Amino acid sequence: MLEEQLLNPDLHDRAGFSCGIPELDDYLRRFAAQHRRKGVSTVYVLVDSGKQSLILGFYTLSAAQVDAAELSDADRKKLPRYPVPCFRMGRLACRTDQRGYGLGKLLIGCAVERCLQARNQVAAFALIVDAKNSEAKAFYEHYGFRSCADAAMTLYLPLGRN
Ligand SMILES: CC(C)(COP(=O)(O)OP(=O)(O)OC[C@H]1O[C@@H](n2cnc3c(N)ncnc32)[C@H](O)[C@@H]1OP(=O)(O)O)[C@@H](O)C(=O)NCCC(=O)NCCS
Repeated sequence: MLEEQLLNPDLHDRAGFSCGIPELDDYLRRFAAQHRRKGVSTVYVLVDSGKQSLILGFYTLSAAQVDAAELSDADRKKLPRYPVPCFRMGRLACRTDQRGYGLGKLLIGCAVERCLQARNQVAAFALIVDAKNSEAKAFYEHYGFRSCADAAMTLYLPLGRN
């Protein structure tokens, strides 16, 4: 059974993870645990409960904000002029040998669900992501993310009403 877990450096094999983008692999190996400890990002990994050391995918979440001017006219309506609170999924990746089996979709679903839960406690308007390339951008657009006005590779997904 697939499980989402908080990154545990004593359990999860970060060195054995490869998603094909060196920057993301390097982040998981060198910075993820440190960022978790320091409160920069919370890092979630996807594992099979039968082999929990093997990381199938991961994503990170942090608090964030976006300038209302970056949102579309319709989304900006009735929002305050000061920066709008959001969550940011700074990184998302699946193992190269597990592509196309729905793990990316599962990870996005887990992240959105977590944001919806969290905003019962702390308000947030949207989930923001930073696409590393045009392929990643297309992936996010597939799920309804919209580009920011002045930063096409930063996309946001309104979380809807509470
Ligand atoms: C992007 C990534 C997470 C997708 O993971 P995946 O497990 O291969 O994707 P899934 O199998 O879950 O695909 C889910 C859906 O997204 C679609 N999809 C996948 N990649 C896509 C792309 N580049 N553009 C548009 N749609 C895409 C699939 O067709 C599928 O659609 P469906 O549910 O309607 O059938 C994976 O390719 C990856 O880790 N890439 C390297 C890291 C990366 O680019 N991260 C993105 C953030 S920077």
